[in-house]
Amino acid sequence: MELVFATNNAHKLEEVQAIIGDRFTIKSLTDIGCSDDIPETGVTFEENAQQKTAYLVAHYGLNCFGDDSGLEVDALNKEPGVYSARYSGSRDMEKNIDLVLSRLSGEVARTARFRTVISLSLNNQQYFFEGAIEGQIIHERRGTGGFGYDPIFIPEGYDKTFAEMTSDEKNQISHRAIAVGKLAAFLKANQG
Ligand code: IMP
Repeated sequence: MELVFATNNAHKLEEVQAIIGDRFTIKSLTDIGCSDDIPETGVTFEENAQQKTAYLVAHYGLNCFGDDSGLEVDALNKEPGVYSARYSGSRDMEKNIDLVLSRLSGEVARTARFRTVISLSLNNQQYFFEGAIEGQIIHERRGTGGFGYDPIFIPEGYDKTFAEMTSDEKNQISHRAIAVGKLAAFLKANQG
């Protein structure tokens, strides 16, 4: 069975295909000839993820899923949240990290989490799967791996930032891995 993943991020696609297994063929937006700029105007991860699948259902009528992720910092009222990719007004992650650190300057309560929400539209039914990982924002960057806010986030129970972990280590515990694991379990149970 084929499922469209509302992304063109080859890395995400590979990771998800590996977790879901070969019972489902995961296709990207490019694979189905979609080069549209799918609107992402929601104020929650759920809304943004659902916008992607609703768009694909409306325009292509295909079974599909889409995700939205970000960092929620408690002391910043859960910002950057859905604005994680452009928190400083640009996609420059150095600037985005600097803004989080400066807004947290002097703050001792530094709890945060990464969250992913996946929207699945299967046979015109809507499902959501969520993954979250709790942790802390440290005072300065550590590590060179990963992407995004990884250098300033230490997951609970660890003493390394996501950027100091190997990608295998991070992929065992990440918000995205948790959400994709739930999606995979659902698909296995429902489309045997
Ligand atoms: P997306 O919805 O997966 O594209 O994520 C949106 C933004 O959230 C990214 O551009 C990153 O800034 C941030 N983000 C999401 N997941 C991660 C992660 O695993 N590590 C660090 N930053 C992340």
